[in-house]
Amino acid sequence: MEIIVQETAEQASMLAARLIAKTISDKPDAVLGLPTGSTPLPLYKELIRIHKEENLDFSSVTSFNLDEYLGLGPEHPQSYHHFMYENLFNHINIPAENINIPDGLTENVPSFCIGYEQKIKDKGGIDIQLLGIGSDGHIGFNEPSSSLTSRTRIKTLTPNTIKDNARFFENESAVPRHVITMGLGTVMESRECILLAFGEAKAEAVRQSVEGPLCAMVPASVLQMHNRSRFFIDAEAASKLEKVEYYNWVFSNKPAWQQFEK
Ligand code: PGA
Repeated sequence: MEIIVQETAEQASMLAARLIAKTISDKPDAVLGLPTGSTPLPLYKELIRIHKEENLDFSSVTSFNLDEYLGLGPEHPQSYHHFMYENLFNHINIPAENINIPDGLTENVPSFCIGYEQKIKDKGGIDIQLLGIGSDGHIGFNEPSSSLTSRTRIKTLTPNTIKDNARFFENESAVPRHVITMGLGTVMESRECILLAFGEAKAEAVRQSVEGPLCAMVPASVLQMHNRSRFFIDAEAASKLEKVEYYNWVFSNKPAWQQFEK
């Protein structure tokens, strides 16, 4: 696990965007796992800039989104389909047929989920899985108590997450109760994980995920078992980490070949 602390969310997002851009340059048909929420927005902006100004080519890239609200169609302004097109896909040259997002209107959830997992396998697996983190430690919509080996499935949101996400809806009761999410087992099979966390509201979840015990009550702690997982966080999200000086020391003492391109 590597903990990379930058002063601001923008700085952390720029570094993570560079890493993703490099993966795509090295492997033009890379498979990306993508999140929604406010956290990845600066990173998506930077990827769009790199696409426009440095010709980063997404024409062979495939994407799989982590989750979607059940009951919301792709045109719904709060659906994750809508979010992804508005904030990324409409601004880069990824072909529509390469974009995969769970279907919030599926009539057969179990069968849809089996098919989604199969599609990830058929594409050779996910190269980079980008993640946000909920204030309760969820990744994707794997709420506390999610099995650490779970696969893509239906989940019921916790009241805490419904409250956190109500800001995007008219009120709390408009937030769907159910979602489809990739499982923790699905995330763990990706070749590399990048988790972004910004702001004080995420500090406790980050602390528990990085320095607490591995446990289903803190779903992001499963990343302790991933052999290539990196947290890109800002100073506020790092504020409760006991060993922050050590993480900073590691980052500033990397051998030249491991250093990050800025
Ligand atoms: P946020 O959500 O990026 O809007 O804070 C993160 C999450 O719930 O996973």
